[in-house]
Amino acid sequence: MCGIVGYIGPQSVVPVIIEGLRRLEYRGYDSAGIAVAGGPNGLELRRAPGKLRNLETVIHDSPIDGTFGIGHTRWATHGRPTEENAHPHRDGSGTLVVVHNGIVENYLALKKELIAKGHKFVSETDTEIIAHLIQDAFEGGRPQYIDGRPQSDSPYAGTDSANESEAVVTALNPDGSRPAMSLEEAVRRAVKRITGAFAIGVLSALEPNKLVAARMGPPAVIGIGDGEFFLASDVPGILHHTRNIHFLADGELAILTKEGVSLTDFQGAALPLKVQRITWDPIQAEKAGYKHFMLKEINEQPRAIRDTTLGRVSLDTGKVFLEAMQLTDDDLRNASQITIAACGTSWHAGLAGKFMIERLARLPVEVDYASEYRYRDPIADPRAIGLLITQSGETADTLAAQAELIAKGSKTLAICNVVGAAITRKAQGTLTTNAGPEIGVASTKAFTAQLTALFVLALHLAQVRGTISDEESLHLVTELSKLPGKLASLLNINSPDAPGSSEGVAAPTRLSQNAGHNKNVSFRPEAQSDLSGLTQNVSSRPERSGVEGPPHFATDRRSTTRQPLSAQCEELARLFHTSDDFLFLGRGIHYPIALEGALKLKEISYIHAEGYPAGEMKHGPNALIDESLPVVCIATKDPNDPSSVLKYEKTLSNIQEVTARSGRVIAIAIEGDTEISQLVEQTIYIPQAPELLLPILEVVPLQLLAYHIAVRRGCDVDQPRNLAKSVTVE
Ligand code: F6R
Repeated sequence: MCGIVGYIGPQSVVPVIIEGLRRLEYRGYDSAGIAVAGGPNGLELRRAPGKLRNLETVIHDSPIDGTFGIGHTRWATHGRPTEENAHPHRDGSGTLVVVHNGIVENYLALKKELIAKGHKFVSETDTEIIAHLIQDAFEGGRPQYIDGRPQSDSPYAGTDSANESEAVVTALNPDGSRPAMSLEEAVRRAVKRITGAFAIGVLSALEPNKLVAARMGPPAVIGIGDGEFFLASDVPGILHHTRNIHFLADGELAILTKEGVSLTDFQGAALPLKVQRITWDPIQAEKAGYKHFMLKEINEQPRAIRDTTLGRVSLDTGKVFLEAMQLTDDDLRNASQITIAACGTSWHAGLAGKFMIERLARLPVEVDYASEYRYRDPIADPRAIGLLITQSGETADTLAAQAELIAKGSKTLAICNVVGAAITRKAQGTLTTNAGPEIGVASTKAFTAQLTALFVLALHLAQVRGTISDEESLHLVTELSKLPGKLASLLNINSPDAPGSSEGVAAPTRLSQNAGHNKNVSFRPEAQSDLSGLTQNVSSRPERSGVEGPPHFATDRRSTTRQPLSAQCEELARLFHTSDDFLFLGRGIHYPIALEGALKLKEISYIHAEGYPAGEMKHGPNALIDESLPVVCIATKDPNDPSSVLKYEKTLSNIQEVTARSGRVIAIAIEGDTEISQLVEQTIYIPQAPELLLPILEVVPLQLLAYHIAVRRGCDVDQPRNLAKSVTVE
């Protein structure tokens, strides 16, 4: 989730890029860098760790100039947030640079292959591989040369230094001649070798006044100005220069020169440019046209799930790879238990993680509120592994729990969304959730990314401990890979960030109504379960507007009559926003999701809400039920899992206990479940998935319900009263 800006045109390049990066800083801010070429000193590079102002200081002290350039603000995935790991990254010859947003899934295999050919790497990033792959394409696999010298003589070979900014190299071939291949052709060859997700910008000192951009996954846009052309990862980076935008689609490659922009696919076939006029104001643009960051982040969940999975699982074998953990397989095999400590939403993820780990790895798991852990005089057990779950990595209570775990002799692991955050510095290993920066105070995409990371960790533990068969592993990994597509379907987006969204597409969601109940909600016929459900015109997405012309997320222009989930939740919000209390029920792994649904509603709408295990209702809370109490009940089941079916049946009985007392039930159920819609007033359907993955889908309607109720009540959705995004005091 990084920011990219590229520019080619008559203006001074550096200020255009720096200003664009400033407007994209919300996409990532742990380091920044810029490369320019075409000036008196050839290709020049400046990079700095930390915020953009650090880069500005570097440029102030050591100015650069050129006629074209690219810049980047980084949100770290592979490699710590250091200067060496900041983008742009050079190839081995030093003639070309790459900026990248995304993840190269097969980077280890590619790196090995390139090292065997003589390539030397100076950073820990996967992006550097792309620069070397392009170089490799130029060289047709030959060993590298710079100014006629083998690359091992290169001033950069094997160095740690990131400040190679003044280096100017003028030729790639041993005889000093320019490569015959064009930059765009070399990029096309390189990107075809990448598995994963990327939006890249590339420039070469050998091809003046040309920028090449390519996309497969993360967003990228091309801005068409008056005699000037822009590249950005997102509209706000260039909106102050032009409103004429081409949204780069997956598999497209753009060539920007002083004369204009041309477009091809990765095979080189020409494609038409589809320029749209953007009418967003700058604030809307930061939110990609959504009314709130929270809504934007809810819709980013397909990408967040995919990026948290990328590179960690093999779809061929079902094996899980967690290289960032410095715990040996023996540590994991001999662990006596896992102790999870976390706060708020992250604690809910931990509760769900307990079900995943215990079920798959047969390892006992304790889940503590981090704020309680050290005050309960926990029993020391050096064979217990502490697992801290935190979006920010800076939560004081969670840091204190980590200190207590370490003091008791435990090794700690972190699941964290911020590379290099305090918690990760003390942990033995970190499983990064690649959700990208979360701006809305109410956590959404970080939560589903945490659930994904926990599932991957549970699978890994199970494989190491030998508690899962290869067949079951492969089945679960395959199902995991279908989730981004299912989420995109549920959210009614043709998520460009969800490759595979055409696979595993479940039947569309719909809101049904029991004829005997509320008459205000009209039943809407559902569309067929095909790809048309993933595409729609802008007018069917009321929260996102301001793009004139075809929407960038639609490759298929057919519209659909299907009611989007967001609209269904908006309708429920209309019916229930004046309620004083809400109850959320679930059983087993669905109970933490009930807790999360209640927390979301509390924190952004200020309505009192409670999450409860469905089976506990008869032990007290049934006394609360009357016709004024909305009860949201998670009643999903995995038909292939007998314990899930049993839980579902018990939940149906609990629902009947509520409806018998005139409680108003909103059920979250699996598509096709007609039994439930006979019982309750409202049903929201979600796609089918294995029991342990269902929470990732179930929470989405709960997030949207809370969102629309908060909007109706006029609450400040992104910054609810009395709350902060990162709680750094105990
Ligand atoms: C709720 C929410 C909070 C956080 C909690 C822990 O939407 O965001 O409950 O989950 O403050 O924060 P992290 O995960 O940063 O440790």
